[in-house]
Amino acid sequence: MKNIVVLISGNGSNLQAIIDACEQKKINGTLRAVFSNKADAFGLERAREADIPAHALSASQFSSREAFDRELMQEIDAYAPDLVVLAGYMRILSPEFVAHYQGRLLNIHPSLLPKYPGLNTHRQVLDNGDEEHGTSVHFVTEQLDGGPVILQAKVPVFAGDSEEDITDRVQHQEHAIYPLVISWFIEGRLDMRDGAAWLDDVQLPAQGYAADE
Ligand code: GAR
Repeated sequence: MKNIVVLISGNGSNLQAIIDACEQKKINGTLRAVFSNKADAFGLERAREADIPAHALSASQFSSREAFDRELMQEIDAYAPDLVVLAGYMRILSPEFVAHYQGRLLNIHPSLLPKYPGLNTHRQVLDNGDEEHGTSVHFVTEQLDGGPVILQAKVPVFAGDSEEDITDRVQHQEHAIYPLVISWFIEGRLDMRDGAAWLDDVQLPAQGYAADE
């Protein structure tokens, strides 16, 4: 069984989708541990509820980003992860951390990358009057939200939508696509090579799998 470690900062609804997919054997791997940079993250409760070791590390106890990430790496590596999954982990990673897990580090970002890297994506979609929004699962590289996209899901934006409406719509899609991509990786079908994502030895286009362009 391959080992998965998940990093969170908050609610952990994506973590829950991953826990459920492991329990239903849709992901053929073992979720070994969950780490949060926030001790009060609800996702830690979800992990404990599922009997998964749940750890919190506070940045205030470390002198630098590098020192925090080094400790985090050491604690993660105690679980011998084949895959490290960022699921709403809202902290910039040090280059050392990214290099250490290169090729086995996934993130989900709530926009149709390369549109809207960074924060407040839902707000920007509404402010710009976009008619389409979505979410992207990608390999993590040193470029913030810039690594190769594996899979995107699109959602419509309707007149009168609130930020909460589109957040819910996007997250509903996230809970479907993130476990799917993780299952591909765990089955050995997915990897990162030459700065691109590959599925079943086919290089994926910039928008990831099943692009409609
Ligand atoms: C998710 O929507 C995820 O895409 C986003 O945070 C949310 C976490 O929700 N991630 C980012 O914004 C990363 N830049 P969750 O804690 O309920 O899974």
